[in-house]
Amino acid sequence: MRRKLFVGNWKMHGSLVANGSLLRDLKAGAREAMEGGDLVVCVPACYLAQCSEILIQSGIALGAQDVSSHAVGPYTGEVSARMLQDFGCKYVIVGHSERREYHGETDEEIAHKAQRAMAAGLTPIVCVGETLAQREAGRTREVINMQMSAFLSVLEPEETNDLIVAYEPIWAIGTGKTATAEMAQEVHAMLREQLVEKSAEAGELVRILYGGSMRPQNAHEILQMPDIDGGLIGGASLKAADFIAIAKAVL
Ligand code: PGA
Repeated sequence: MRRKLFVGNWKMHGSLVANGSLLRDLKAGAREAMEGGDLVVCVPACYLAQCSEILIQSGIALGAQDVSSHAVGPYTGEVSARMLQDFGCKYVIVGHSERREYHGETDEEIAHKAQRAMAAGLTPIVCVGETLAQREAGRTREVINMQMSAFLSVLEPEETNDLIVAYEPIWAIGTGKTATAEMAQEVHAMLREQLVEKSAEAGELVRILYGGSMRPQNAHEILQMPDIDGGLIGGASLKAADFIAIAKAVL
């Protein structure tokens, strides 16, 4: 049985003061929430030092929202996997749809970012998802399949065991619209088949998260599905009570 995982994606939100109070509230409820699964917060890079200090011995793991595909060198503005690891990061989101859309990230680049992350001992959380137009055109399976195969083709079978995958339908991100539990399960099952083809072990081990307007109100139903192993949570992770309630929805 895969243990559930709840990852907060803070995106470009926060301040020294706001982070302090959010993490304090999160720590207060973390023990109970962790009965539901593991907790991670992916914070803006400039706040890693602050957050890693506050989270010491809390059981809540720290993550980043992006990582360079290069190891080191003249890449102005980039942050390397080693740097993230230096600040106690355990996870890093790669290929979020906002990075694909606004920064032109390709599946190949995303795969290289994931490899860099793994080489530095971090667990990459690789995101895939279709647009509304693609879903309405009946192309969901094809699009997700392409994103995942392009990504998996760059990795060695053993490397796939150390991944986390997140299915985030783009039309559900930040919109208040969620995929139904059945819609999400269908895609998750397909993603798992693709993982199994690459490595039977990965098919067993890899946790596949759902993301897109996950809230305390819809979490229970979504998390009941056999191939949904947790959530990648944006807006609701900025409120400690909501993030905790989502993790507790599995109990
Ligand atoms: P949301 O964001 O929960 O605010 O929809 C999810 C994400 O983009 O990771």
